[in-house]
Amino acid sequence: MNRILAAATCLVTLPVLAMAAGDITVDAAAGEKVFRTGKAYHQVSVDAESRASPRLNGAVDRAVGSIEGFSYSDAFVVLNAEGTIRSTEKFAAFLAKPKNFEKGTMIAFAGLRKKEDRKNMIAYLATCWVEGM
Ligand code: HEM
Repeated sequence: MNRILAAATCLVTLPVLAMAAGDITVDAAAGEKVFRTGKAYHQVSVDAESRASPRLNGAVDRAVGSIEGFSYSDAFVVLNAEGTIRSTEKFAAFLAKPKNFEKGTMIAFAGLRKKEDRKNMIAYLATCWVEGM
């Protein structure tokens, strides 16, 4: 049941979700729009598969490079072996300029210049969680 709810929230009926925590306000619905660039490469759903890029279910707060069966770059293999967790802060730094943050990564994505876009997209991806990930 949780799996179904998570997928529905993430993919079908994401409401305009505004969360306020201290001085941080995020808009996950706006983040979903920002993620459209990544959607052509990364899948997020209950049945998401990793093809040329790893699926991104549960990408927030999970171990870097941990999708079984995906052939990561050496950079990601090392980060995984070191037990690196992609926290919200690390994710934001990664999204600002992936190639600078995780040197040697295969990801062909220039990054997001606007802090607002980074915050909102992470909030959206945090809703794309599937039980068991
Ligand atoms: C909004 C845009 C994007 C976001 C949020 C995003 C996010 C991510 C994240 C979080 C990872 C690490 C996954 C993990 O640790 O399991 C990753 C890896 C990767 N992404 Fe993206 N990505 C985006 C765009 C792209 C694009 C445009 C491409 C290809 C043209 C791409 C290709 C890849 C590849 C190949 C990897 C594996 C990296 C490696 O092994 O070095 N991504 N992406």
